[in-house]
Formats: sequence, C-alpha cells, structure tokens
Amino acid sequence: MENPSILRRELVDIHGVPLFWCIVEEWSQVESFEARPDDILIATYPKSGTTWISEILDLIYNNGDLEKCKRDAIYNRVPFMELIVPGQINGVKQLENIESPRLVKTHLPVQLLPSSFWKNNCKIIYVARNAKDVAVSYYYFYQMAKLHPEPGTWEEFLDKFMAGKVCFGSWYEHVKNWWEKRKDYRILYLFYEDMKEDPKGNIHKLLKFLDKDLPEETVDKILYHTSFNVMKQNPSANYTTMGHYNMDHSVSPFMRKGISGDWKNKFTVSQCEMFEEDYERKMKGSTLKFRSEI
Ligand code: A3P
Repeated sequence: MENPSILRRELVDIHGVPLFWCIVEEWSQVESFEARPDDILIATYPKSGTTWISEILDLIYNNGDLEKCKRDAIYNRVPFMELIVPGQINGVKQLENIESPRLVKTHLPVQLLPSSFWKNNCKIIYVARNAKDVAVSYYYFYQMAKLHPEPGTWEEFLDKFMAGKVCFGSWYEHVKNWWEKRKDYRILYLFYEDMKEDPKGNIHKLLKFLDKDLPEETVDKILYHTSFNVMKQNPSANYTTMGHYNMDHSVSPFMRKGISGDWKNKFTVSQCEMFEEDYERKMKGSTLKFRSEI
C-alpha cells in the first residue's frame, strides 16, 4: 500500500532505544506479546544474518523440504514480531495466526524483549556480526528500505551508528547484553563470521541445540539452499516480493554481498582508526570477541 506519509520519518525513542515511530505507537501490543513455550526466537541486531539463519531454521523445521519452504516469503514464514506498520504489517497479529512451533524474528535489545519469552523459557538463537560489516550493510539498507530515516552521507551514518542513534539502538549494547543473558537462559549465541567459515558445523550446532536429528544428505541440501548465491535467486528468501515502494532493490539489493570484510571497501583509514579506538572503549570489560575478517 502506497502511503508516502509513513516513509522516511524520524525514529522515536522507547526506553532510550530509537525505533520506527509506528512500533513505538503500538508498543503496548509488542510488550504484551504472548510467547509459547515451543517458540524459537531468532534475535539479532539488524544486518547480522537474520534472513540467513531464518531460512536455515525454516528448512530444519521442514526436514529440508524445499517446496514447503517456498510456500511463502521469509517475512511471512518467520514473522518480525515487533514490526507494526499501519495498513501494511503487524508481526504480533501475524504470529497469533501461526500454528506452533513458531519461528519468531526480533531485533529488540534484550531489555525490551516481551517478558513472556523469559517466563516460558523459550529457546533463543542469537546471531552477531562484526560491527564494521554491520555498519556498512546497515548504511546500504537504510538507503533501500524507506521506513528508515534518510541515512545521510556514509560519514554521517557512521557517526549515528557509533552513537547508537540508528533503528534498534546501539550495536555495542545489543551484542554485549545478549551475550550476558546467555548465562541464565537457553540462548545459542552464533557469529556470522563462523557461519561463513563453517556453515555445516553451525547447522550441526543448531540441530544439537534444537534436539533434532537430520540425515547428512538433508543437512547438505540445507547447506546448498542457504548459500548466498542460491538464496539471492530465491524470491521467497530475497525480499524481492516486498513492494518496490518499501524496499527499492535498484538502490541496493537486500541480498547485497554476503561476505565478511566488506568494510574494507567503505571505511577510510582514518575512519577505521577512529572507529577502533571508540570500539575498544565501548567493548572494554566484555569477554565477547569478534573477527572482522575471516
Ligand atoms: P550485506 O549487506 O553485507 O551483503 P539481515 O538478514 O540481518 O538483514 O542481514 C542481511 C545481511 O546478510 C546482508 O549483508 C545480506 O547480504 C547477508 N546475507 C543474507 N543471506 C545470506 C547468506 N545466505 N549468506 C551470507 N550472507 C547472507
């Protein structure tokens, strides 16, 4: 539905975290979301491999049946819980109408997660990606996905990213706080870089965490189907079915590069130095370690 008034609006803070204005307006619906004990929650900071892990999990849940996983677009198979856009989408409602076991996507920082997930002790899969690649990926995504405010220049965007003034807030707080939470809850914490380096090993980690067993040939099929080049061509995974009006793939495709270390093509030497110095300060004291290339 084309409604220019909903696009490119400023973010609004909720409990100190900037979010799309339309999520904040409907926050009570999100807050009171009713998780079910067998929900699998996929939690990520944006641009960290959410779609990739979602496709892998949907295939696991459907025993590698490709046709079943082409039944609908990824944003309908794995609804984005907190995304409520008037006249377009309501993740909370979408999920209410899905049969269990549900795969649920969220980008919320840990402190904003609806409490029903903790009460039900749901299994959670968190995927984290190194900050520099996330910043670059997010910059291109802001340009093509027009629910975001205008990103400005790369330099301006990078400042906003470092200050946590982008949608879903500070990357640094997000990855650190979810990392801490894994000590108390059933959270499998994965890294995009590890998934790139050893996709098969990571599928096995998922199977173990989910207490599932699949024949090796099914694992190989899932591996092939979720490789970047195959997913890029798959309309049920590549977001090309989402209205051109919301996501303009001619500006930058959703399935953009799918590599680790692309930040080297975007950061200048001085931006890199400034970023790393700030990074050390923000990540000091955390045991969480990232690789920014593989
Ligand atoms: P790039 O912009 O660096 O290419 P999210 O799904 O969380 O929004 O993350 C999107 C990022 O994951 C994009 O990164 C996208 O290309 C990448 N991606 C999507 N599917 C992938 C896959 N199968 N393998 C590797 N990267 C993938």
